[in-house]
Amino acid sequence: MNEPFGIYVHWPFCRAKCPYCDFNSHVRHGGIDEARFLAGYLAELSHFASLALARSVTSIFFGGGTPSLMRPATVGAIIEAIADHWGLADDAEITLEANPTSVEAENFAGYRTAGLNRLSLGVQALDDQSLKTLGRQHSAQEALDALALAKRRFDRVSFDLIYAREGQTAKAWEAELTLALGHAADHLSLYQLTIEEGTPFAARHAAGTLRTPDNATAAALYQLTQELCEAAGLPAYEVSNHAWPGSESRHNLLYWRGHDYAGIGPGAHSRITVDGAKRALSAIKSPESWLAEVEAHGHGRASDEALSAEEVAEEYLLMGLRLSEGIDLGRLAILNGQRLDEDRVSALASDGLLTRDGDRLAATPKGRLLLNRLILELAA
Ligand SMILES: C[S@@+](CC[C@H](N)C(=O)[O-])C[C@H]1O[C@@H](n2cnc3c(N)ncnc32)[C@H](O)[C@@H]1O
Ligand code: SF4
Repeated sequence: MNEPFGIYVHWPFCRAKCPYCDFNSHVRHGGIDEARFLAGYLAELSHFASLALARSVTSIFFGGGTPSLMRPATVGAIIEAIADHWGLADDAEITLEANPTSVEAENFAGYRTAGLNRLSLGVQALDDQSLKTLGRQHSAQEALDALALAKRRFDRVSFDLIYAREGQTAKAWEAELTLALGHAADHLSLYQLTIEEGTPFAARHAAGTLRTPDNATAAALYQLTQELCEAAGLPAYEVSNHAWPGSESRHNLLYWRGHDYAGIGPGAHSRITVDGAKRALSAIKSPESWLAEVEAHGHGRASDEALSAEEVAEEYLLMGLRLSEGIDLGRLAILNGQRLDEDRVSALASDGLLTRDGDRLAATPKGRLLLNRLILELAA
């Protein structure tokens, strides 16, 4: 198996819960038993190694939650176990998502020693008032200092910003993104604020006390984002991700290109091919219940399902059209045994939503804004 293969490690704890976030992240004021959790991660790694051997790992991603709350020694032990089970490809990309507080920045040198070669910082906004509204634990200056330190320690650094925030005008976003691009390294993730069900932001939104930009303004902000990043040499390679050509996140590309990955930790998802069939697995979301299950059975599985050829093809379409490189129609045909309806493809191309170059089908920037509609029509 020469295809890329990644490991995702989910650390589900945060110092505080941000009011917009619906990731599987929890606050434990009494602290957590990190050694016990590490033993749980190592047990799950052994379990996955028994399912998915015979390939080397091309990327590892520590996500969360806030994995920068993990001790460097914990991160190092996980990387070492992965290397022992599968072997690491020579150019393996090893990323950790860090919150840019000064406390966490103290860990950067230790992470480098532990084997990380890429850091992704959750900056979110570059003004203090917005950071406060977003419930963040750092100021803009603290985030910029953490970013400067990350760039000294790592060759590859990305950071995240959330835009289309309450009251944000195109002029304000232009100024903020221009400032961000001035500090950018080789990669930027720029997410439009999503109001996630069940979050404090959703409650405020429903009550009318949190007003996000209307669709036309959000589309204008998206357009502006594409233009400014392109001009700065960091074009979009995915709906929300921008990079110098060649600096795209290999781990994220693996999801969007439909390759295999094993997800370790509470709530993590996996897609692995076992005996020629793609399986979709997920883990128990509650950290303590996951740990109890791992300690009892060696894994914290919540579900394990074999995907049909149609489901694999649909996922490939759904994920692949997020990428500016698009999908390979030949591969899609191999996956589900049929080709897309040519008339429908032509009609969507005439509407300016798709481009077709031989067997390569991609959404245009306009199409990527209307991705759900596009996929519904293509998959119909
Ligand atoms: C797993 S999360 C957070 C990583 C890290 N704990 C942090 O907060 O910096 C990854 C990214 O998703 C983005 N994100 C989370 N919730 C979002 C939302 N409701 N709308 C848009 N972006 C969101 C943020 O930019 C965040 O950095
Ligand atoms: S955005 Fe990051 S720090 Fe905030 S709750 Fe979500 S995972 Fe935790």
